[in-house]
Amino acid sequence: MDSSPDTMSPEAALAALEWQIELGADEAIGDRPINRYELAAKQARAKEPVKAPAPSAPSAPSAPGPEAGSGPDPVDEAERLAAAANTLEELRAAIAAFDGCELKKGARNLVFADGNPAARLMVIGEAPGREEDRIGRPFVGRAGHLLDRMFAAIGLSRSAPDPDRALYITNILPWRPPQNRDPTPGEIAVMRPFVLRHIELVDPDVIVLMGNIACQALLGRRGITRLRGHWHELGRRPVLPMFHPAYLLRNPSAKREAWADLLMLKSRLEKPHAED
Ligand code: URA
Repeated sequence: MDSSPDTMSPEAALAALEWQIELGADEAIGDRPINRYELAAKQARAKEPVKAPAPSAPSAPSAPGPEAGSGPDPVDEAERLAAAANTLEELRAAIAAFDGCELKKGARNLVFADGNPAARLMVIGEAPGREEDRIGRPFVGRAGHLLDRMFAAIGLSRSAPDPDRALYITNILPWRPPQNRDPTPGEIAVMRPFVLRHIELVDPDVIVLMGNIACQALLGRRGITRLRGHWHELGRRPVLPMFHPAYLLRNPSAKREAWADLLMLKSRLEKPHAED
């Protein structure tokens, strides 16, 4: 298939443009693409002095591996920074300054949280998607709209000032993984101390974990089909795993179970201190 811009169909050109926007391009600076890898290689070759063949000598030491001299362990560093944060603003700043997770480099925005921090309910999802990365708020794409409708059905919203009717929302990862791939165990491990501190600072009565990644990160268990529909604990806080709204968009028949979970949640929140 010829995909040069001159012969591309309008549909293919539109798809190529969407793909570039997806990769982060936000400005048109020329009519023709420039292959900068090729350019850099050409420039390097041009600068290279013509050398006489070197006599055989012991090879130079190779670049240090990931462990050698690579500074503090990122999980230790995350724990230290998270523990030092005494407010949500300090926690946000600590995450923004943290360089121990490679996802930060590819993300447009840090996605910290949304909603009312005084809410009795804290909802924890997986990681930002494309819209969340663009806007800098969690759950603002299609799955987010469904999430808002689900909680509205039991009288809760992220904009409610009353803690009994409010939601506070965050994710396990604050930066978007490329192409929305699943977070790796290493990425989860390194960001987990920040999530645990986030929970301590918000101090919710009840937590909802959306989907397998959130359950894996905070309960150490996967298998949302079996985990949902039952109360679990994180420290002494009640935790309800639920199907992720993105899963519900792909599997609308699972909305019946999600509704049952919402009713469980509602009746728990109707108890004054979310007791058993
Ligand atoms: N899915 C998530 O888990 N979190 C978001 O913020 C958006 C989609």
